[in-house]
Amino acid sequence: MPLVTTKDMFEKSMKEHFAIGAFNVNNMEIIQGIVDAAAKENSPVILQASSGAIKYARIPYLKKMIEAALEEHDIPLALHLDHGPDFETCKMCIDNGFTSVMIDGSKYDFEENVALTKKVVDYAHSHGVVVEAELGKLAGIEDDVNVSEADAMYTDPEQAKEFVERTGCDSLAIAIGTSHGAYKFKGEAKLRFDILAKVKELIPNTPIVLHGASTVIPELVEKCNKYGGNIPGAKGVPDEMLHEASLSGVSKINVDTDLRLAMTGAIREVFAEDPSVFDPRKYLTPARAQIEETVAHKIREVFGSSNKA
Ligand code: G3H
Ligand code: 13P
Ligand code: ZN
Repeated sequence: MPLVTTKDMFEKSMKEHFAIGAFNVNNMEIIQGIVDAAAKENSPVILQASSGAIKYARIPYLKKMIEAALEEHDIPLALHLDHGPDFETCKMCIDNGFTSVMIDGSKYDFEENVALTKKVVDYAHSHGVVVEAELGKLAGIEDDVNVSEADAMYTDPEQAKEFVERTGCDSLAIAIGTSHGAYKFKGEAKLRFDILAKVKELIPNTPIVLHGASTVIPELVEKCNKYGGNIPGAKGVPDEMLHEASLSGVSKINVDTDLRLAMTGAIREVFAEDPSVFDPRKYLTPARAQIEETVAHKIREVFGSSNKA
């Protein structure tokens, strides 16, 4: 099957009430771990690359590795630009065969966000590519963007409706309390499901995206710390909340931090248990397996996308 856009998978997700995992990719082991899990679960999946990932891995390598994944597996797979910072980056990805791009205009005011998103939508749609936009601000770090927690701003549902109508974007990322990275909540985890419900009421046919949605899986954090890491007090969005989100109209759930923790914990364990290891295959093989296990758990137990390919 060739690369697909997210259109059909999102339609199915809205009709059948499940979410699709969008996993950040940076290298071969991460890509393999994700697609092996998705194929075993017979699930659609979105592979997303940030500007940082593109700078690190380079477009030709990312494209070829994803082509290889499609040769091996017959599942719906979309290649998405995560947090596109400007029109030029979106255009570059569209011209290079990405099937979906995100233009992240959340750092601009409403009118500027509308104008920039519309410009990307016009170019993307004329090339058969879909566009994710963002309205509202997540606390935390997004690529080069730093938004202080004090500026965190939930999405206004009425504005979301106007934004989607004026831009023609295909999906919308909203801010309901998640944030990027390993430190999402100081106290209890809390998401504004009331805002999600209102957004779905006003724009029921627009697929909704949740960024900053890693669970920060406690066992993975413990493993990192046990084997020499220093990630104290990390906290993410509990599985139960993500499951509720996937039943309540969220179509795409973004995960990067959990993959970073999975990979790092596995590598740290090998190094701590046997300091004589210096063959990269000895530590990248368990790292890839831990990514596969983490992705399979999310698809099967949390997002509900098993057998939805
Ligand atoms: O939301 C941001 C993603 O976790 C990507 O992070 O820009 O460091 O690749 P990155
Ligand atoms: P996490 O940091 O919670 O994994 O979020 C990833 C993300 O939103 C990528 O766009
Ligand atoms: Zn994000």
